This record gives sequence, C-alpha cells and structure tokens, in this order.
Amino acid sequence: MTAPWWREAVTYEAYVRSFADGDGDGLGDLPGLRGRLPYLASLGVDALWITPFYPSPDHDAGYDVTDHRDVDPRLGTLADADGVIADAHRLGLRVVVDLVLNHVSSAHPWFVAARAAGPGAPERARFHVRPGRGPDGATPPTNWPSIFGGPAWTPFGDGEWYLHLFDREQPDLRHEHPEVAADALATLRFWLDRGVDGVRFDAAGSLSKDPAYPDLPDGWRPGDPAPYSDRDEVHEIYRRWARVLASYPGDRLGVAETWGGPDVLAPYLRPDELGQAFAMDPLYWPLRAQPWREGVDALLAATGRHGRLPTWVHGSHDVRRAADRWGPDGARAVLLLMLALPGAVYLYAGDELGLPEVALADEEIRDPVFRRSGGADRGRDGARVPLPWTDGPAPYGFGPDGATPWLPQPAGWGARSVARQSDDPASPLAVTRAALALRGAWWRGRPEELTWRDAPADCLAFRRGQHGPTCLVNFGDAPVDWRPYGRRLLLASAPATAEKLPARATAWLA
Ligand code: GLC
Repeated sequence: MTAPWWREAVTYEAYVRSFADGDGDGLGDLPGLRGRLPYLASLGVDALWITPFYPSPDHDAGYDVTDHRDVDPRLGTLADADGVIADAHRLGLRVVVDLVLNHVSSAHPWFVAARAAGPGAPERARFHVRPGRGPDGATPPTNWPSIFGGPAWTPFGDGEWYLHLFDREQPDLRHEHPEVAADALATLRFWLDRGVDGVRFDAAGSLSKDPAYPDLPDGWRPGDPAPYSDRDEVHEIYRRWARVLASYPGDRLGVAETWGGPDVLAPYLRPDELGQAFAMDPLYWPLRAQPWREGVDALLAATGRHGRLPTWVHGSHDVRRAADRWGPDGARAVLLLMLALPGAVYLYAGDELGLPEVALADEEIRDPVFRRSGGADRGRDGARVPLPWTDGPAPYGFGPDGATPWLPQPAGWGARSVARQSDDPASPLAVTRAALALRGAWWRGRPEELTWRDAPADCLAFRRGQHGPTCLVNFGDAPVDWRPYGRRLLLASAPATAEKLPARATAWLA
C-alpha cells in the first residue's frame, strides 16, 4: 500500500494577505497567489496551505469570517479560488484551505441576529451565551481569559455575555447546536467539492467547551488543561469530519491546528480522526541537542502509537520569524533537520528567504493581540510583512508599482527578494531549493525509525533505519568534523569545508 500524499509532504503556508497583491490595493489576493504558483512549484514543495480568504471585516486578518463559502471581494472571487486550485494541480501542487469553524465574525448574520434577539432568544443558542454574575450581572460568567488578552466574555448589554476565546469580534460557536454542526459540514463539503486536497482546522482544540462552564482554578496558567481546550468531546467532531474526508477520493487531508505536547496532539491522529496535527512545541525548542533529541523521540513515539508521523512546524503567521527565534543560521539548520526527520513539514512563506521579524511602529500594528494586551504583546504582524519578490523600489514586486502594502515593508527589503536570492547560490532560498530537491531521494519514504548515532557534544546525528544517509546537526559553537558520518557531503545549511561543518548548521551526508 502506498502512503497518502500528505504523510511526508512539505506544505508551504501561503499567508495570502502578504504573499502577492494582484490588483494593487495593498492586500495580497488570490489572483496574486495564482500568478506566483510557478514559484512554489519550482521551490519544490508538495502542497500549499492558503490562509483564510473568505469575506471578513479583518479584525483578525481574515480569521473572523462572515461567510465561509465565499471569497472576500478584496481577495478575489470564487472563480479565482477555482483557478488557484486548478493551476496548482496542473503544477503538481496540492491545496489545503483553512477552515475557521470555532468562531465567526461578529458581523456574521448569525451573530447579528443573536445580538438583536435579546436574552434567552433561540438565536443566541448558536453561541456560548451566559448571564453575568453578581447582583447586576456585571461580572463575566467565568474567569476565562481570551487567548489574545483580556477576558473571554463580552456583555451584550442586556444581562447576557458571549464567549470569545480570541478577539471580541470573534464569537465562539456552539457545535452542539444542530445548525452549527450542519453548517460546518456544508462548509467542509463545499471546499472538498471544489477540489481541495485538504483542510486545516483552525483552533482545532477549542471546538468543545465544558457545558458547566467551570472557573479556572487559582494559579492556572496558559497551556494548563482548560475546560475549553482539547476535551474528549472535541474528538467526536473530528471523527464526524474525518468520515466526510474519507468519503472523497484521493486521500483528502485533515490537519489540526493543535497547540500542545505529544499527549495533546496524538489523540487527533487516531486512525478514525485526522492525518496531521501540528507539533508547535519545536518552534520554541532552543538550539541544543538534548531538548531536540528527547522531543523528537517523544513525538515519534506518541504519533507512532496511531500509525502516524509528526507534523513539524518550522514557522507560521502566529509566531516570530524563524530567523528571529533561532537566528538566521539556526533557522536553516532546523529546516534541514526537520526535512530529514520522518514526517511532514510546514514551511512559512518568507522563511525560505530567511526574512527577519520586522519591528513595526505602534500605529502600524493591526493584530488585535497588541490592543487586547494593552501593548504588552506586540502581536504577530512582525512576521506578516508582505514578501519582497524583486529588488528596486517598494513594494518590491509584492504588488504593482505604487501600491502601498497593508503592512509597511522595511527599507532594503529588496535585497532579500526572490529575484536577488535566485542569483545567489549561497542564499537561504538556494539552500531551501536544494534541500527540497534532495529530500525526495534521500529522506522521504525511508524507514520511519530513527537510529541515533554517537555525536560530539551538542550535536545530533541520525539515520532513518540502519543504513542510508546521516543527518548531522551541529548546535554547538565550534565547527565539527563531519567525515566520521559519511564520505560525501550532500548538502549543508551553511558553507562547509572538506572536513568541517560550521557551528549552528546541519549537513546531509552519504
Ligand atoms: C489560529 C490562527 C490565528 C488566529 C486564531 C483565531 O490560531 O492561526 O492566526 O488568530 O486561530 O482564529
């Protein structure tokens, strides 16, 4: 039996608002993306995940949706979406769309109706609505915090409050409500019918809440178990959706946006659930051999229990740029490490260029996290600055000349552009391309058990199975001799000599 296409796929996260702007309104769009698909094909990825392009008032950059089965007019049309899917398939790329089913926009007709209908109305039953506490109902129903900062409840002003785990403009849906459940199924089928190869389930662990709405205990901290995260009941929802995915031909993928360790994400990978669940922990592992070795083993073991492999997330639109978290050299070293490991890899748009985190001025920041945290958290926009495609003046090929990108690009952005890096064999882009080109022959489909080899201090060395190439990772500060690990250097994330792999670099050796 051959493995499904996604088992070890490399998926490129096309953050649509910042990828390519076809019409010059400053916002990346589907025609822009469509025009750049040949770039993704030549990069060598297997699939692209397109972040939400549905109609949205943009309180959370498109993750606040008013209609899941349409395209935001600023980003294109349904015909453009069909065009992206068709062109991607012609180029051999799979397409994954992003379904935001945990919540809707406060401008969604359901929520507009709920707000208008008044306390106790059936329109409010599609949402998590509770009376306030205290004599005048002025205290939130629970002490739950919003993930974006501040309380997770906002009052309607009539004694009842609604739950929003994210921004107040993103009311959470009650999936126990038959119309909510039916609508989610209709959305899922809508995109599968249009030919997408997979769907990403946004905020996957949040879809079920404890109906008793208990308070969080004293001393609770983000990441601790919560009555609205990764509950057993949420898995019934994924089982239902997995049956829909399985009813379509061609190994359609469901990937869960999970935020938790191996024990949290593994249940989503049970044989009757989803094919992939994001491993986010590695985003924060320091560049040291021990945490990586232990972490990799734990993820392989937990996913392997269900016959699955880990889904390595190298970066995303929700975290700081890889080049900032791990340093520019470290980001490339980790990418080559992830590409050699058993499993699938998600590469965030712009990280193939080694783009840095951009420091934006207060008034430039759009992310609701900034406002809701009272400025304590600058939010995620520093990783969302529109991509540079060409050198020359702004917007550096992101859109037509003269267009003003929705987030400002820093001066000199063109020096990091696709065009400039394409001419430089030592550039991050060239290394990424080379790695993706070699991965198919050297790593993908090899035995799924790791064999760790003895390695110098703060280095990792492994094979897949007993034979074949070795991946050598040098997290240390000094160069190491790579010759004990292979006769031939296939690729390195930083310039290696005939004997030495530099500090903070990964080599593939045969
Ligand atoms: C997911 C998205 C993030 C968004 C949130 C709320 O975590 O990746 O960007 O803000 O869900 O939809």
